[in-house]
Amino acid sequence: AKILVLHGPNLNLLGEREPGIYGHATLDQINAGLQARAAAAGHELSDFQSNAEHELVDRVQAARRDGTAFILINPAAFTHTSVALRDALAAVALPFIEVHLSNPHAREPFRAHSYFSSLALGVVCGFGADSYGYALEAALKRLSTP
Ligand code: DQA
Repeated sequence: AKILVLHGPNLNLLGEREPGIYGHATLDQINAGLQARAAAAGHELSDFQSNAEHELVDRVQAARRDGTAFILINPAAFTHTSVALRDALAAVALPFIEVHLSNPHAREPFRAHSYFSSLALGVVCGFGADSYGYALEAALKRLSTP
């Protein structure tokens, strides 16, 4: 099946951006690891990062037509602000898991609210780059259990 991994704003800076919070892995390294794991399980994984809300909305809308079966998304700062991106996910009605490297609940109060969690199949946060890996395992299990 086709799995789409979406990364929100500033995640292009992973590796150099607040490494104490977000770790040392780069986005390319994270994507490569996910890609390899998905391929080994017989799936096709693609990734997309943007700093622009409308580009993420457009990519989610495109997922309705390109055969995407499952989405992993780290909406980054848009987690706490974007009704538009939430609405796009509701519109395509594809199952998705919300991912965060950090644990937003252990940080500033404004990070505690997510526009995505109530729509997500589940949320994985707080495990650094491993959050993506755990979310992918959950997705693979879902995809193999009809
Ligand atoms: C984040 C948490 C968000 O609060 C923050 O705005 C990010 C990254 C995370 O992965 O921990 O940019 O989504």
